[in-house]
Amino acid sequence: MIATASDDARKPRHIAIVMDGNGRWAERRRRPRTFGHRAGARTVKLCVRFCLEHRIEALTLFAFSSENWKRPKEEVGALMSLFLRSLDREVDELHRHGVRLRFIGERAHFSAAIRERMHGAETLTAANSALNLTIAASYGGRWDIVQACRAIARDAIDGALNPDTLDETAFAARLGLSDLPEPDLFIRTGGDHRISNFLLWQMAYTELWFTDTLWPDLDNAELERALADFATRERRFGLTSAQIAPSQGHPA
Ligand code: IPE
Ligand code: IPE
Ligand code: MG
Repeated sequence: MIATASDDARKPRHIAIVMDGNGRWAERRRRPRTFGHRAGARTVKLCVRFCLEHRIEALTLFAFSSENWKRPKEEVGALMSLFLRSLDREVDELHRHGVRLRFIGERAHFSAAIRERMHGAETLTAANSALNLTIAASYGGRWDIVQACRAIARDAIDGALNPDTLDETAFAARLGLSDLPEPDLFIRTGGDHRISNFLLWQMAYTELWFTDTLWPDLDNAELERALADFATRERRFGLTSAQIAPSQGHPA
C-alpha cells in the first residue's frame, strides 16, 4: 500500500504507553510476578520494532513509576536487576537500528550501575533519529511538574527569568520530553482506565486508548487496531468540527 499525506496526518507522531498487567499475567500462570516482568520486557522489543516499521517518531514507555518504589522490596529488586540486564543486552541493538534512547525520571534513586548505563546509552545513541525512545523510570507526572518548578524558581532567584513573563511554552521547556511533539496517542494495557501519574502536563490533548490485554500478551495486531482507531478520531483541541475540517463543506 502506498502511503499518502493524509495517511500520515492520521498517524500518531508520538505514542506513550502504560505497560500494565505483568503481575496479573504471571499470577494467572501461578508464577511469581517477576516472571511477568521478564515476559513484559519481550513486549517492549516488539513495540519498538512496530514503531520503527511504522516510522513513528517517538515512543515513550512507562516502565516504573515514582509510586512503584513502594512495592515489596523483592519485586523492586527484581525489577532493578531486569532493568540493568536489559540495558546491557539491548542498547547495542537499539543503536544499530538508529534508535535514540533517553530516560526521564528521578535518577538519584537508582544505583550507580544503572545510572552509569543510562548515561552511556544516552551518549551512545544521541545522534540517532530513526525513533526517539524514552523510558520513563522512577517517573511521575507530578514529580516532573515539581522539578520544572524548582528549575524555574532557581532561574528566577538568579535573575535569569522574570516570573511575570513565564508562559506555558517556557514552563513546558523544563519538563521531560520537551523537545518532542506532545503524545498523540496514549495506550494502556491491563484493563484499567487511568493515567497513574504518567505524563500529566504533556497529555492535555492526547487521544486515549485502552485494552484489557495484559502487557506481555500485546501483539502487532492489537497495536494496528490502536492505530486504526486513532485514525478515526477527530482532534479538535477546543475548536469546533467546522473549524477543523472547513474543506468538507462546513463554514470555517
Ligand atoms: C506493570 O505491570 C509493570 C510495572 C508497574 C513495573 P504490573 O506489575 O503493574 O502488573 P499488574 O498491574 O500488577 O498486573
Ligand atoms: C502504572 O502501573 C505504572 C507503570 C506501568 C510503570 P501501576 O500498576 O503502577 O498503576 P496502578 O497502581 O494500577 O494505578
Ligand atoms: Mg499494574
